[in-house]
Amino acid sequence: MKKNLKILLKSRPTGMPTMENFQFVEEEVPVPKDGEILIKTLYLSVDPYMRGRMSDAKSYVAPFPVGEVLTGGVVGQVVESHNENFRVGELVTAELGWARYSVSDGQKVRKIDPTAGPITTALGVLGMPGLTAYFGLLDIGKPQPGETVVVSGAAGAVGSVAGQIAKIKGCRVVGIAGSETKVRYLVDELGFDAAVNYKTDNLHAALKEACPNGVDVYFDNVGGDVTDAVIYRINTNARIVLCGQIAQYNLEKVDVGPRLFTQLLIKSAMVKGFIVTQYAQRANEGIQALSQWLREGRIKYSEHIVEGLENAVDAFLGLFRGDNIGKQLVHVSDPE
Ligand SMILES: NC(=O)c1ccc[n+]([C@@H]2O[C@H](COP(=O)([O-])OP(=O)(O)OC[C@H]3O[C@@H](n4cnc5c(N)ncnc54)[C@H](OP(=O)(O)O)[C@@H]3O)[C@@H](O)[C@H]2O)c1
Repeated sequence: MKKNLKILLKSRPTGMPTMENFQFVEEEVPVPKDGEILIKTLYLSVDPYMRGRMSDAKSYVAPFPVGEVLTGGVVGQVVESHNENFRVGELVTAELGWARYSVSDGQKVRKIDPTAGPITTALGVLGMPGLTAYFGLLDIGKPQPGETVVVSGAAGAVGSVAGQIAKIKGCRVVGIAGSETKVRYLVDELGFDAAVNYKTDNLHAALKEACPNGVDVYFDNVGGDVTDAVIYRINTNARIVLCGQIAQYNLEKVDVGPRLFTQLLIKSAMVKGFIVTQYAQRANEGIQALSQWLREGRIKYSEHIVEGLENAVDAFLGLFRGDNIGKQLVHVSDPE
C-alpha cells in the first residue's frame, strides 16, 4: 500500500528554525471526492518567504497554522481525477502541501507546458522566482542601457535571473554573493561584469572597485550590512528594488532602522518594496519573455536539488546557510 508522508509545522521557530519545529506524519493517501484530483508531488520548492509564514507576525500572507501541513510551490502529476478539467497523467503546478500526495479541487492548479522547458523550471526561472526578478527589476528598477545594476543574493533563484535581465537590458551588472564558487559562477557562467563575496571581501572597497560609476539600480534580496554598503554608493535618482531581506528573517531582535535615509535624501533615491503576487494579472507577459530568453540562451539557470521529502526541512534551512546556487528544490518522486 502506498503511504502519504506529510511535514507539519509543529511549533513556531524563534531565530533559526530547527528540526524540533517540524513534525513528520505518515498516513493513508488521501482520497479525492467528486470534483477533486489527487496530485503526486514530483518536486517541492522551498523558499525564504516560508520563514516569515512560520512566524505569526502580521504580514502580506497568513501564517502557517501550527499543527497543519506546510505548503509551497509543487510540480506534480495528476494520478486520480474526478474533475473534468484534468486527466490522469497531466503535469501541473500549484501551491500544495509538503507531502507526497495532495488533494485539490483544481482551482489555482496550472497545467505545465512541457515544451517550455524542463518541468522544474515552473518553480524557478519560469515560475514565481523568475517573475519576481522580471517585474521587480523592470517595473521598479527600470534599468537603462549603460547604467550600473547591483544585485544582492545574486547567485540565488531570484537574483541570478534579475542580474541576467539587467545584462539583457545593456547594463553593467555586479552581483553580491556568499562564496568564491558563487562569485565565479556569476562572472564565468552568467556573464555578470563583476561579483563580490560579502563574506570575505572588504565590501565597501570591493563595491567601489566594481562600481566605478556608482550604482543606479540596486535589486536587494538580503538587507542588513550588505545593503548599507550598497546604499553608500548610489547615484542621484537611484532606484532601490526591495525584493527580500533574508539577512533579517532569523533575527530574534530585528535591527532598528532604516538608518541611511540621509543618503537616500541627498541622492533623491527611490526605494520601493513589492510582492510578486501583485503582478498576477501580468504573469503571462513575464513567462513569455523569460521563456523566449531561455530558448535564445540569453538566460541560464541552475538548480540545487535535494533528494527525498524527508530532507525537505534541511533543504529549507540550507537557504539560510547559502547551500544553493540557483533554485533550491526537493525531488520527491518520479512521474508514473
Ligand atoms: N518580493 C517578493 O515577492 C519575493 C518573491 C520571492 C523571493 N523574495 C525574496 O527574494 C530573496 C531571494 O529569494 P530566493 O528564493 O531567490 O532565494 P535564494 O537567493 O535562492 O536563496 C537564499 C540565498 O540567500 C543568501 N543568504 C542567506 N542568508 C543570508 C544572509 N544572512 N545575508 C546575506 N545573504 C544571505 C544565500 O546566498 P549567499 O551564499 O549568497 O549568502 C542563499 O543561497 C529572499 O529574500 C526572498 O524572501 C521576494
